Amino acid sequence: MKVSDLRGILQYVPRFRERIFVVAIDGEIVASPNFANILLDLAVLRSLSIKVILVHGAAAQITQLASERGLAISNADGTGITDEATLKVSLEAVTNVMNEIMQGLTAVDLRAAYSNAIIAHPAGILGGVDFLHTGRVERVDTKSLHLFLNEGITPLIPPIGYDGEGKTFRVNSDAVALEVAEAMQAMKILFLSASDGVVVDGELIGQLSITEAEEFVKKKRAALDGGLLSKLDHAARACRLGVPRVHLLNGLHDEALLSEVFSQEGIGTMVYSNEYQQIRRVFKKDVRAIMTLIRQSVDSEELVKRTRADIVAHLEDYWVLEIDRNLVGCVALHIHPEQEIAELACLYVHKNHEGQGYGRKLMTFAEQLAAEKGMKQVLALSTQAFNYFQQKGGYTEVTPDVLPPERRKKYDAGARNSKVMVKAVSPGAKPPASGSP
Ligand SMILES: CC(C)(COP(=O)(O)OP(=O)(O)OC[C@H]1O[C@@H](n2cnc3c(N)ncnc32)[C@H](O)[C@@H]1OP(=O)(O)O)[C@@H](O)C(=O)NCCC(=O)NCCS
Repeated sequence: MKVSDLRGILQYVPRFRERIFVVAIDGEIVASPNFANILLDLAVLRSLSIKVILVHGAAAQITQLASERGLAISNADGTGITDEATLKVSLEAVTNVMNEIMQGLTAVDLRAAYSNAIIAHPAGILGGVDFLHTGRVERVDTKSLHLFLNEGITPLIPPIGYDGEGKTFRVNSDAVALEVAEAMQAMKILFLSASDGVVVDGELIGQLSITEAEEFVKKKRAALDGGLLSKLDHAARACRLGVPRVHLLNGLHDEALLSEVFSQEGIGTMVYSNEYQQIRRVFKKDVRAIMTLIRQSVDSEELVKRTRADIVAHLEDYWVLEIDRNLVGCVALHIHPEQEIAELACLYVHKNHEGQGYGRKLMTFAEQLAAEKGMKQVLALSTQAFNYFQQKGGYTEVTPDVLPPERRKKYDAGARNSKVMVKAVSPGAKPPASGSP
């Protein structure tokens, strides 16, 4: 772990604090050697004041227990018919899984409680077939879950529901995760299964909008195995119901959970209900990406050439705009305190994202930041976007005489002959909150 990794994590902490993550773990993952690492990752989430609700499946354990007993079961994952014998073996397997998880949570010092928060009703007769002890989630007892969470207790929810008459139903854990996330207004669902996420022609698809996920479920279902198809379907539905992000991760992969939550790359497939945008500070690890981003504009002389060392030397002046973890724009603000002038520089928006107001967003951000720092004016120098600054930003062209002496020297030494524009900014204006979802 590098210091820069820790700094990278820091930007997420205020956004995630006190928010609810539903972590849905397949039975197969509970039985895997990587489960111990997942428990540690859960402890990390809890230590950052993220409220975790654990939902677990048990299909692998049900199938195994049934085979050990020589029993033919009617269904393992809670989506088909659950006959009497299947319910019995399912309850035993679920209890074993619960016990295993409880042991693990205790080992990482997490307080947890098994919860009967899923109120279910019978799935009923579908297509003329009675699904017997298979249930559907009728409602989630959010009050009890909030009570646990507020006391720092992690609720553990089995793929079992109960009705008001004390009857027990087998429910599907993907559906439980969805219902719990919706009812608890969770920020995320993290599905941990044995699949890598959505992979097409050997390539992992990192992100899908709701409509893309729905299209996938409708048209390309043959490309997905049954478990992943169900998760993608539930992910899209959860997003439609207001859960902002659902992640499909390979729980056999060490660090899957933390990499997905706290890094820009992520390792699974994320389904999102809206684009996540933020303007954030730049870290050293971003410098290479910024240089790649602006390279084309530097080549066409729209932007002045900057070396890596130039950017690193003024790292705190640079800001980037991210959309769903992708770097799509940047801006720098160089302060000249004596003249109470700030220079807005290196404004760039990736070609694929032009014309959507991101340039103005970055420009406004920089201007408000300048005002907050007590500057009276913002300068912009441009060879090809001076019309943009004038027409879209309300800047006025002036002579290079307004440049602070040091800046003027550089201007005269260069051969760019940029137009100089200026805009008054009002003190007291607050910068837009960076890092907000
Ligand atoms: C200039 C730039 C930042 C605009 O980004 P953007 O996100 O596309 O801008 P917005 O979406 O806020 O605004 C788009 C509008 O500006 C106009 N516009 C874009 N570039 C322009 C330019 N060079 N001159 C005049 N108008 C321009 C568009 O036609 C569009 O007009 P409309 O709203 O009437 O349709 C982007 O084109 C860019 O990165 N250019 C190369 C780098 C550069 O020159 N930077 C400025 C020097 S610091």
